[in-house]
Amino acid sequence: MRKMRLIVLISGNGSNLQAILDAVQSGDLPAEVCAVISNKKGAYGLERARKAGVPAVVKVKWKDQDRRDYDAELAELVREYRPDWIVLAGWMRILSMSFLKHFPDRVINLHPALPGTFPGVNAVQRAFQAFQQGEISQSGVMVHLVPDEDVDAGPLLAQREVEIHKDDTVETFEKRIHNCEHILLVETLKNLAAHMEDQNA
Ligand code: GRF
Repeated sequence: MRKMRLIVLISGNGSNLQAILDAVQSGDLPAEVCAVISNKKGAYGLERARKAGVPAVVKVKWKDQDRRDYDAELAELVREYRPDWIVLAGWMRILSMSFLKHFPDRVINLHPALPGTFPGVNAVQRAFQAFQQGEISQSGVMVHLVPDEDVDAGPLLAQREVEIHKDDTVETFEKRIHNCEHILLVETLKNLAAHMEDQNA
């Protein structure tokens, strides 16, 4: 049976990448991480990739480089690995259509909030603030497809609610969100792998 081929794009810590690598390593997720690509040289996730024996590639956007040119180059690089799925796991750049047009229905993003809420950076902190102001009683996590440049929006693959407790600090809440992300992302990828298997059967 062919294993699902993944490319993971990161910009930082890579704890979600680690969740994927661990699930692959334990055999829980029938996939191969073909490469991890970071737009930041010092991203810790690159170290995680190397430790797992996965190619760790740095692709920096030069200061005066046009964003679409960068995205086209990135697409070229990604295409060489013939991925089934491209996972944005803490990838802190908005991808333009110069990238996305090459991978319709193949790019997955993880967002630490529920659909339609707190798009963009610092979603966890903004959700916590909204809770403190009595505007929300819970938040959550979502995994979705990325069809276009809309930020943290697109056809939903999975979502899970995360409670916010009265005695939470932003740190304890954030920890719960991240734990949930690690589980939901791997679960979603497992579902996609099972679906791929069905189609190939
Ligand atoms: C996650 O919260 C993810 O949802 C968001 O950026 C964070 C990345 O965390 N897009 P990590 O690098 O996987 O630890």
